[in-house]
Amino acid sequence: MKIPFSDLHGHASPTSSVSQEMCLARKMLHPLLILGLLVCTLTGAVDIQVPDDPVVALFHHDATLRCSFSPDANFSLQDLSLIWQLTDTKRLVHSFADGQDQLANQGSSYANRTALFYDQLLRGNVSLLLRRVQISDEGSFTCFIRVQDYNSAAVTLQVAAFYSKPSLNLEPNKNLKPGDLVTLTCHTFLGYPEATVIWQDGQGNNITENITTSQVANEEGLFDVQSILRVVLEPNSTYSCLVKNPVLRQETHASVTITGQHLMFPAVALWVTVGLAICLLVLLVALAYVCQKKIRQSCKEEKERAGIEEQEEGEGSKTALQPLKSMEIKEEIGEEID
Ligand SMILES: *[C@@H]1O[C@H](CO)[C@@H](O)[C@H](O)[C@H]1NC(C)=O
Ligand SMILES: *[C@@H]1O[C@H](CO)[C@@H](O)[C@H](O)[C@H]1NC(C)=O
Ligand SMILES: *[C@@H]1O[C@H](CO)[C@@H](O)[C@H](O)[C@H]1NC(C)=O
Ligand SMILES: *[C@@H]1O[C@H](CO)[C@@H](O)[C@H](O)[C@H]1NC(C)=O
Ligand SMILES: *[C@@H]1O[C@H](CO)[C@@H](O)[C@H](O)[C@H]1NC(C)=O
Repeated sequence: MKIPFSDLHGHASPTSSVSQEMCLARKMLHPLLILGLLVCTLTGAVDIQVPDDPVVALFHHDATLRCSFSPDANFSLQDLSLIWQLTDTKRLVHSFADGQDQLANQGSSYANRTALFYDQLLRGNVSLLLRRVQISDEGSFTCFIRVQDYNSAAVTLQVAAFYSKPSLNLEPNKNLKPGDLVTLTCHTFLGYPEATVIWQDGQGNNITENITTSQVANEEGLFDVQSILRVVLEPNSTYSCLVKNPVLRQETHASVTITGQHLMFPAVALWVTVGLAICLLVLLVALAYVCQKKIRQSCKEEKERAGIEEQEEGEGSKTALQPLKSMEIKEEIGEEID
């Protein structure tokens, strides 16, 4: 993107020796002399090269805003005046004149963050190095060059930051049954610019209903993105949250699959477990009761048999079998309840 000098300062500059020489060269090469002459009178300024597309810089990284011209053979740095300024506000970002940096009027937010590629100035490379790029640096910068003649061109800076891998939360996340209304929250942060959030089901179809997405900038301008999806649960369903950074072409996602088992466990398995536990308890109580009874009985028998010490072996084994029998019955009952 080039802005003619006349747009900035209200009048076009007259042709100079620099551009005249350039035009002479063009005329000699060009067979159509008249057309060449016409082009020369229309473009009487320093020919500046800047990138056409916005320069993308990662947040907190360094950016190079490229700008260059083709200097004469006898060009010296003393002849160069360079100004880098914000296109909108004309705020001074960096300037160079009389063979050195002139930073007295530099905007305070650029202090210690700017530099030129000093070894390349003589080649006409007046690119600006901007360190530790911030979100507020985003925008258009004008590169203004004066040698004998002057001209300017604008470079657009686009700042970007990658989004974190999203986290996905289910609320509620226990005792789920098909038909329950659940809230899925997808959270990603510290990205820039605003994210595109897409929800998809297991088949990759976009979900468009019942979604609320909020993007909140922190004090540095980076976004905290939260997208909430409300759905009625179906068994074996998958929900994915896709986060895209349109500038960096970044795509990151998180998904959750709610299987039949997940859904069944709290609803059925829990009650089965509770039921079994109750049966076991009942069995233990019954066993304890029977045992106690048996012990008392055998004590009594011993007392009764204090005098009589014959034909006891057979009886003993018979009574010992009895508690086992009653336990088997209880177990059968337990299984029927189950
Ligand atoms: C460069 O040389 C040309 C002629 O050789 C002269 O016209 C021009 O003024 C010189 N420019 C500088 C900056 O000395
Ligand atoms: C820039 O650097 C100088 C010297 O290193 C320091 O005194 C000054 O405070 C710095 N300015 C900013 C805005 O960091
Ligand atoms: C100017 O210098 C910068 C930094 O070294 C470089 O990236 C850029 O390509 C140079 N431009 C030209 C036209 O040489
Ligand atoms: C889902 O939506 C995105 C953005 O709106 C679109 O690019 C994509 O093609 C859609 N995918 C399907 C399967 O509809
Ligand atoms: C959106 O929510 C409403 C009620 O909150 C529900 O009736 C409807 O089924 C939901 N839509 C989808 C596609 O889940």
